[in-house]
Amino acid sequence: MAKYLITGGVPLAGKVRISGAKNSALKLMAASLLSPRKSILHNVPLIQDVFTMADVLRELGAEVSIDSDRVEIDPSGELQDTAPYELVRRMRASILVMGPLLARLKRARVAMPGGCNIGPRHINFHLNGLEKLGARINVGHGFINVAANRLTGDAISLDYPSVGATENLMMAAVTARGRTVIESAAREPEIIDLAKFLTSMGASISGAGTSTIVIDGVEELEGATHTVIPDRIEAGTYMLAAAVTNGEIEVEGISPRYLELFISKLRAVGVQVKEFDNGVSCSGDGDYSGTDIATLPYPGFPTDLQAPVIVLLSLAQGHSIVTENVFENRFTFVDELNRLGANVQTSGHHAVVHGGCHFEGTIVEATDLRAGAGLVLAGLAASGQTEVRRIGHIDRGYEYFEHKLQALGADIERVESSKRSPSASLT
Ligand code: EPZ
Repeated sequence: MAKYLITGGVPLAGKVRISGAKNSALKLMAASLLSPRKSILHNVPLIQDVFTMADVLRELGAEVSIDSDRVEIDPSGELQDTAPYELVRRMRASILVMGPLLARLKRARVAMPGGCNIGPRHINFHLNGLEKLGARINVGHGFINVAANRLTGDAISLDYPSVGATENLMMAAVTARGRTVIESAAREPEIIDLAKFLTSMGASISGAGTSTIVIDGVEELEGATHTVIPDRIEAGTYMLAAAVTNGEIEVEGISPRYLELFISKLRAVGVQVKEFDNGVSCSGDGDYSGTDIATLPYPGFPTDLQAPVIVLLSLAQGHSIVTENVFENRFTFVDELNRLGANVQTSGHHAVVHGGCHFEGTIVEATDLRAGAGLVLAGLAASGQTEVRRIGHIDRGYEYFEHKLQALGADIERVESSKRSPSASLT
């Protein structure tokens, strides 16, 4: 896998444009299967997960063309019902074809996603909800088989506001007979974006963005054209890049309202944040104080910014307690960060971050997408050179990452694994 070579200590400065949201685009691509008519998505990020989802849709029989940020999906052909293991294993979001296939074909066969580096990633909320809509579920030989003669709307109360379960159930319910009410639904902006796309396809949905989503089934859906919302997690990552390098970055193309709690936490640490209609500017001088953070479903502090924010808390004075309430095992990144000079102790869902650290460059390894982004931020703040390995994880979700950072003044180079890098001297 490729690696980054980073020479830290440069305060980043300038403007960065935010790309379309990975965690919306992937679902919109899956949702396009609900109609035999062509759909077109704009502002889709050119990231590995989008290419993987395109492969999943092609495997199912749809035609997919990607031209810069424009993705065209033509599901008019005869669709297959199976999402294969090698694609689901590569990207858990592949399970989101389950709802659309069930709605369109009345059956779906999806490989069990398995766990990943941040937890077992169960799907019981998805399956319990589909059963409420009349699906018959059986699991065998590593596959989940769902089937229904006709889905019938019902009241579904989620045990937890699961983003993926909310999305799968929305997509299954839009052509079910009668009304479906999803209680304790996820409230993320990406849910609202999915509801907008489904509505433009002809669905009848209200309440997206609240805990109660009401869907009245319709007979069939049309194709639609839609522009993906900006990526709030990418935006938060660049805001943290400004803070940890004592720089000043204008993050364009993001509404601050998507990041309210995150911004209030940055300000509590001592980072300057100015808000505009369609962007924020973020700057810092390194005079930071620790603060406690607990990740929660939206609008709480986003779990996807937990690893990157620990980098900032490590540089701040004083102690911070970070509580991870969303995933079961999302502190694996800490061991790598401590190798750069952080001092973080974890116990279960809690991490105690001892501040006042100075990062010193060395070789580290990305363990997942957001951990990888966090290690890059630490490398940008570190003295000397940092080599971040296994950056394929980062390629999954950050469009043009090194290019955007280079445009902000970062000394970061991508080295493909075939070439011998000068980091051999790093011991
Ligand atoms: C989505 O994952 C995002 N992924 C994640 O982003 C994000 O961290 C997460 O939502 C929370 O915001 C995509 O949108 C592709 P959940 P998802 O269902 O849908 C448990 C990133 O880095 N759970 O809300 O899988 C689950 O184990 C990724 O971009 C069940 O127990 O999140 C987890 O602990 C990482 N049973 C918690 O709920 C279920 O049936 C949250 O999961 C479903 C989930």
